[in-house]
This record gives sequence, C-alpha cells and structure tokens, in this order.
Amino acid sequence: SFIDQLLDLKQLELRLSQKLGIENCLVVAGDSDDQLQVVDEMGKLVTNTLKTLLPHGRNIIAAMGGTTIAQIAACLTPDIGLQRELLFVPARGGLGERMEIQANNVCARMARRTGGKSRSLYVPEQVSESTYRPLLKEPAVQEVVNLIGQSNAVIHSIGTAMHMAHRRSMAPEVIAMLNKKKAVGEAFGYFFDEKGQIVYRISRIGIQLEDLASMECVIAVAGGTSKAKAIVSYMKHAPKQTCLITDEGAAKAILKE
Ligand code: G3H
Repeated sequence: SFIDQLLDLKQLELRLSQKLGIENCLVVAGDSDDQLQVVDEMGKLVTNTLKTLLPHGRNIIAAMGGTTIAQIAACLTPDIGLQRELLFVPARGGLGERMEIQANNVCARMARRTGGKSRSLYVPEQVSESTYRPLLKEPAVQEVVNLIGQSNAVIHSIGTAMHMAHRRSMAPEVIAMLNKKKAVGEAFGYFFDEKGQIVYRISRIGIQLEDLASMECVIAVAGGTSKAKAIVSYMKHAPKQTCLITDEGAAKAILKE
C-alpha cells in the first residue's frame, strides 16, 4: 500500500544517512536511470528543502551544472522567493559542458523560476592555467568570484567519473590516469576513487570542498542505481549538514555495498 511504501522510504532515508554519515537523506520512489520523471520528484524535495533551510532576507546560492541540476532548476517554484532576496551564482567556472547544462545557464533558470537574480562566470576551466589565471584578474570576473565566496547555500550533483571525463572532453592521458587510479565519482571538479580519495581535480575557480563546511544549506541531488558508487565516494568529503536528495534505485544500491 501507499503507507507501506512511505514507511519503506523513511526506513531507507534513516539507514542511508547512517551509512553515509550525513544528517539528512531524502529518498523518492523509483530509479532515475529508468525514468526521468523521478528527477522531477527529487526537484519537489529540493524546493521544500530550500524553503525550510534558507533564511528570510538575502541569500546567495551557488549552483553546479549537469543534467540533474538543470532538470531540478525547472522544478523550482516562485514561493521559494517569498520574503527572500535570491541571487544565484555558478559554483564553478565553465567545465566544458554543453550550453543547456552549464552552471551559468542553470543559475539563470533558477532565478527565473523563483523571481531571483543571477550572475554568470565567464571563465572556462578546461583551458590551461596560463590562460585562465589572467582572466581571474578581470574586475567583472573578480566580482562574481567574490559573490561565490559569500554564498550561504549550494545545490550540486554527483557524477560518475568516466561519464564526466568524457562529457567534458578531458584529454586522453587524463582519462587514462583516472582509469588507472580507479576514479568512480566526481563532484565540484574533484574526482574520487571508491575509498573517497581525491585522485584528480580540475583547476581551482569557485567553490572548493573545504568551503562547504561553513555553509548553512548544502543540497546534493543525485539518483539512479548507476550513481551509487559515485555518491558513496563523494560522501566521504561531504559536510555533515549535507542534505542528500536521491531515489530508491541509488539508495538500495548504496545500502547493498
Ligand atoms: O558534478 C557532477 C555532474 O555535474 C553531474 O552531472 O547531473 O549530468 O549526472 P549529471
């Protein structure tokens, strides 16, 4: 019955937060590997969580890109913006993803959905250090980098390492290295192996793992059986206050590990 299913999900949430060592896990029914609508269900929970966690008044929310967060953005609702001034900023520079799923675009969409504002960061991260370093000195870029540094909330996903490396057209030798070091997960431009060790990191613009500890609101959204290992690998670094919003597919696979 419906009640039994709800109780099962509540059970999963408790066991999952114990296993991952974070305060809050929310689990929706289904598996987003099979059904994309499951992501919309996670989107509803992101909206509720933002309404609960964001203080009234001014908020700077850093968002990552990717297909999950792009779909989550479309699910946000205007009531999040009630009694709040919302500014969405990309958590990191451009990671070489296609336009629709880039963080700049996700932020614009989140702002549109909630009646907030957004800023873009025009710094590609897949270029060499000697190319992006001077860009960071530009006042317009500095201003957005400073805003990212002031963010009190972050919304991000977790990706599977190989999928992310290929999607971002990373160099073949880097992909070979990630394979050799058995990278399984990626978040914020960091790649992790199964034990959670950082095996590679893309250049250093925007939110770093150590910045997360001081944030009031950290929402991780990742679902699908295929992401189980990736989620576990990143969670070794997640701050305790992280709220993981996931689905039954990922939750059951993680608990089996
Ligand atoms: O950082 C993680 C990736 O952006 C996740 O991407 O939502 O398309 O799987 P995805």
